[in-house]
Order: sequence, then structure tokens, then C-alpha cells
Amino acid sequence: MSINRRNFINLSSLGIAGFTLQGFVNKSSAKGMKPIVIATWDAGINANKGAWEVLSKGGSALDAVEKGVMVTEDEISCCVGLGANPDRDGHVTLDASIMDHEFNCGSVAFLERIKHPISVARKVMEKTPHVMLVGAGAQQFALAEGFTLEADNLSESADKAYKQWLKKSTYKPVINVERQTTAQPTSQLDDKFKAPARLSNGDWNHDTIGMVALDAKGNLSGSCTTSGAGFKLRGRVGDSPIIGAGLYVDNEVGAVVATGQGEDVIRVAGSSAVVEFMRQGKSPQEACRLVVEKVRKIKKEKAADIQVCFIALNKKGEHGSYALHKGFNYAVQTAEGHQLIESPFVM
Ligand code: GLY
Repeated sequence: MSINRRNFINLSSLGIAGFTLQGFVNKSSAKGMKPIVIATWDAGINANKGAWEVLSKGGSALDAVEKGVMVTEDEISCCVGLGANPDRDGHVTLDASIMDHEFNCGSVAFLERIKHPISVARKVMEKTPHVMLVGAGAQQFALAEGFTLEADNLSESADKAYKQWLKKSTYKPVINVERQTTAQPTSQLDDKFKAPARLSNGDWNHDTIGMVALDAKGNLSGSCTTSGAGFKLRGRVGDSPIIGAGLYVDNEVGAVVATGQGEDVIRVAGSSAVVEFMRQGKSPQEACRLVVEKVRKIKKEKAADIQVCFIALNKKGEHGSYALHKGFNYAVQTAEGHQLIESPFVM
């Protein structure tokens, strides 16, 4: 069974948390579960499977969120890993971050020719006194840690998209990237999920993989990894490697990751802001909504042209999301199986 976003019923106007792949209201959100892992977009289904191999065996949330997003880094997609769309000079540059349950965090930005930026981010966290390494320095560190320097080639699909983009060389955001997927419900789950397809016209788009998990011991961790905005200015860095913007974890409260236009996530310190609303007692969904509303307010009429989305998981294993626009979804994996939940949205 293939899934087409247009087939989903959006229940947000009814105040219902979301619509799942199986057609049930999201029960696990209401009751909370652990272990649990959630991840952005339908690519999150495959990523969650990687994380679940760790969590289901009693492994740590930190190991799970690293392993999980590595799955997406290995896939060819528009927006994650070395197969992704390049910057406007034709080079793929990658951003990633990771954070554990004790405020330890690490990130890399503007990293080139390294297959798993999330693992380099973890090494930054565990082996240096720093939080963030960028560009040539990040690559030098990765090589010193034993990572392989990959070829400076574009994947076949990225090359095609880049050549298409060069014809116009425009720089405009496109929201609600519609993708084909072969994602299936739990009962039919197999290994044939396709990564998100890139936009064939080479337009600008976003699709960070962000993941947060709660392990059997009750500890939270999070990760995110992306090539950022396709055909971006060389040197551009988005929200994903910025702790507090693209990712934040407070083990007493919850864990949050963002996807969408990074500049507007950074502007509101998005993930940290969502965590703070959860600290005040808001549900994960309501906390996400309040920050998305803030983005809408400060962007005014420009909010029509951007997408910003958050997913959040609290200490009880309750989860939720909110997006600026229709079209965002996130994947959930627990012992009960997996769900793909269509996010509520404000515009
Ligand atoms: N949210 C990913 C980026 O803007 O780079």
C-alpha cells in the first residue's frame, strides 16, 4: 500500500492529536510509553527501525538516536547525507547534532565528504571539550578519529537536480515538499521504504531527519542531521547543528527537534523554547504549537512562504508536533509497532 499525503485526513481542526497510518487517533501520545522513538517525516519510519534495534534490547536513547539517523544518512535523499542536494557551488555540506540526558552535546556544521556527520558530532561531544566544530576543522577532526574521506561526487539524482537548478539559479523556498513513499503499516512493514524523492525541478527544499528517544531507563536523547537547504549559499549553516535551535534535550522535561527553514528556527531558539513550554506544563503538541505560532507572528505575511515544524517527546513518553503549514508528518515507534502521524498546522 503506498501512502499519499493527500489521502490523510487532517484532524487538527477537531483538536485531535493526529491521524495515524493505521487510522487510529494517536493513543500512545495520550498515555505515554517507553521505550519510544519519534522522528521527522516519513523517512523517520526507517530511521526509527534503526533506533528500535537499540531501544528494544534495553540500549540507551543516545545510542538509539545515533544509529537511527545513520540509516537516513545512508539513504539517497534530497536533504540528508552525501547523496543530498549540493550548495549552489555544487558541493554537499552537512550539519548534524546530538544531545544526551546530561546536557552533553556535540555538533558539526559545513562538513564535507564524511558519510556520517552524526557520528562525528558524537565524537565532538565525547572526545573534545567543545560543542561544535565546523568546515575544514570538523573534517580534520573526523579524519583524525578514523572517518573516511569520501569522493567529492554528487549522487546521480543530486547531479540531475543540480543541473536542473542551474538553469534558473533561483533561490526561493518551497514548502510542503510532496514525496512518493512506499511506507506501509506495521503489519506490512518491510525493507522497501524509499527515501524521500528530491524535487525534480531542483527547487529549494528542506527535509532534516530529526529524532528524539526515551529509553527503558527513562533517559532522553536527540539527534538531527541534514544537508540543509538545497542550493544554499556556500557556507550557509541552518538550525540543525545549533543546540537549542534544531535540537534540545532536558532530561527532566523533554526532548525536541525541528525541521523546516532553519533560519526561522534559529530566530526563536525553537527547540529550547518548546522544552521551556513543556516545563511550564504544556503538552508536547501544545508546546510545539506555541513556538510555531511565534514564528508565524514574527514572520507576518512571509510565513506563507516557509515551513517550520517541531516534534517533541516528554519525560512520560507523550509526544506531539506542530507545523506552520500542512504537509508535515512524523514517525513513532514503540513496542506496539509504528505509526506515521500527520501533524496539525497553524496556517
Ligand atoms: N532545518 C534544516 C536547515 O534549515 O538547514
